[in-house]
Amino acid sequence: MFARNAAKAVAPNASRLFSSSSARHTKVTVLGAGGGIGQPLSLLLKLDPLVTNLSLYDIRGAPGVAADVSHVDTASEVNGYPGEKLDEALDGSKVIVIPAGVPRKPGMTRDDLFNTNASIVRDLAAAIARVAPEAHILVISNPVNSTVPIVAETLNKAGVFNPARVFGVTTLDVVRASRFLASVSGTSPSECNVPVVGGHSGPTIVPLLSQVSHGKSLAGESYDKLVYRIQFGGDEVVKAKDGAGSATLSMAYAGAKFANSLLRGLAGEKGVVTPTFVYSPLFADKGIDFFSSPVELGVNGVEKIHPLGKLSASEEKLLEACLPELKKNIEKGKAFVA
Ligand code: NAI
Repeated sequence: MFARNAAKAVAPNASRLFSSSSARHTKVTVLGAGGGIGQPLSLLLKLDPLVTNLSLYDIRGAPGVAADVSHVDTASEVNGYPGEKLDEALDGSKVIVIPAGVPRKPGMTRDDLFNTNASIVRDLAAAIARVAPEAHILVISNPVNSTVPIVAETLNKAGVFNPARVFGVTTLDVVRASRFLASVSGTSPSECNVPVVGGHSGPTIVPLLSQVSHGKSLAGESYDKLVYRIQFGGDEVVKAKDGAGSATLSMAYAGAKFANSLLRGLAGEKGVVTPTFVYSPLFADKGIDFFSSPVELGVNGVEKIHPLGKLSASEEKLLEACLPELKKNIEKGKAFVA
């Protein structure tokens, strides 16, 4: 299933948030729809023509968000479900997006969220395994490096894990890399589609700037500063929000963008390629089962996992720093379920 392929990484088309190719019954469910990410994400999914039914669930506030979003004049039907109606919310879902859980406060790492979010994600995954085992699952809840293995292990325990259908959403790292590189190079973000690989926290985030024309020539301090900003861009938002949470609006945008890429792939569009954190063979020989690299999305979800391509000497070093940390995070997630 995970054929190694020598094709070069192709960055996603960033020119529009949404594009559509066909309309059919596609129920998309948001778990955590009442939250800082969940609300704007629900609105953006309401605008996506590939979503025909939008199901909004939260232990707090989902019916209100659903009533509000349902007045937007696009074709999809919207339903909101309170805490006790999880099974109804999940039933018949094609795609399930999970931004449920607590966000960071200043001074916290994503790993500090593990104790709270691990059990939330595990319990939601167990319900998905029971009610909607065929759904594609997009994990936003942090720490993604651990919550994705938690979802996979939980599905695996229930005998329904399909590696082509579980995704860690790392799109915000790609969005930030593109925006920040455009700023330093004086170009448009649409010309700066940086493949970001590895995982989704600090040193596990590895931007491959050498693979984009505007990033190739960066060196020395300007290169180091840009890499740091991509790896720790989330901290800028956490600090500016001063205790009120982490990125929500840019994350909702990134989540909707990734969901649209997947929906286009599922609808049969060819050549949809974007980085995402999936069960991957790329570093399996080092005991690392999950890794983000450009992935081709198709009718089955993951169609093809692209290799990293040629790395510069600096990127080799970044990768060296990423791997042990990522391995630790993945093992922590797996151990939690075991
Ligand atoms: P928030 O606290 O504003 O919202 C979380 C929502 O989850 C709340 O409405 C809460 O009621 C709900 N919730 C809690 N337990 C639940 C359960 N068992 N079932 C359903 N809903 C439940 O937090 P925010 O800012 O929306 O962040 C959510 C998560 O997304 C955090 O873990 C955060 O770290 C993560 N995040 C991920 C990013 C990424 O790039 N993947 C970027 C930014 C945040």
